[in-house]
Amino acid sequence: MICAGRHGPWALVAGGSEGVGAAFAERLAEAGINLLLVARNALRLEAAATALRAAHAVEVRTLSLDLAHEDMLASISAATDGLEIGTLVYNAGAAGGPVPLVDQPIGEALANIRLNVVGQTLLSQHFARGMVARGRGAIILVGSLGAIAGCKNLSVYAGVKSFTQTFGEGLWAELAPQGINVAVLMIGRTRTPKLEQVELHANSGVPAAEPEDVVDYALSHLDQGPVLVPPEHMQGFIAMRGMPRRKAVELMTRSLEPQTRYRMD
Ligand SMILES: NC(=O)c1ccc[n+]([C@@H]2O[C@H](COP(=O)([O-])OP(=O)(O)OC[C@H]3O[C@@H](n4cnc5c(N)ncnc54)[C@H](OP(=O)(O)O)[C@@H]3O)[C@@H](O)[C@H]2O)c1
Repeated sequence: MICAGRHGPWALVAGGSEGVGAAFAERLAEAGINLLLVARNALRLEAAATALRAAHAVEVRTLSLDLAHEDMLASISAATDGLEIGTLVYNAGAAGGPVPLVDQPIGEALANIRLNVVGQTLLSQHFARGMVARGRGAIILVGSLGAIAGCKNLSVYAGVKSFTQTFGEGLWAELAPQGINVAVLMIGRTRTPKLEQVELHANSGVPAAEPEDVVDYALSHLDQGPVLVPPEHMQGFIAMRGMPRRKAVELMTRSLEPQTRYRMD
């Protein structure tokens, strides 16, 4: 369970202005933990921060930046100078849109790799050092059931989410013995503004989880890492993990086909 004494006094939520990240911010504020919310859109960030300040007796700061930018760590490091970050939530990570790799602008593919692989590595290392020195803290990486199998038109996304899972597992093995909670929250279809955008044309029909529910599950099972799968998504996780690889890829592709057929911006 999250608590200010062990996981505060500050938390950084990367991708904290809406959806799953905003639900994490809400619960952390309820627990009395001050927040630094990071996202690109400054207006949405400020709106989220204003609502949190009005509802909770915590300090909420915002930082508008692209987590895929090469100067990201320097900017975050400057913004958190002097703050004790006891919890890192790395939430931002959705794909730019389904597209075959041969048609994908390479900048878009690399940005997704920077957002997920590079961003998670940089911030985890940066903030884990302070957590290790203090002997407490939490790192929560938001992953995806998309990590379990490759998917047509989402090759890069599936690949980076696979990184998130195994990276988080290794981090857990390194840090859990030092008193730090590490968890990869692997979720499936969850009702977020980004999902609505991706599913503009069609959706898979699989019921969507609510952001608050997956976040509550994560925060109440924080010490049961390295991988947390909310009950809503457990059946798919178990079924696909046990399948022969070719069958798993076919199933993943088929189940996402309604939306992966289209190109969205
Ligand atoms: N929703 C689902 O059905 C679903 C399913 C499986 C896994 N997931 C995972 O759950 C996480 C959250 O997904 P989501 O649907 O809410 O969409 P998302 O776009 O990954 O996350 C939204 C939040 O991240 C911020 N963000 C996105 N890209 C950013 C960037 N380059 N730099 C800084 N901030 C950035 C957004 O604000 P700005 O746009 O203003 O930057 C917003 O605050 C992701 O890791 C995703 O892979 C989601």
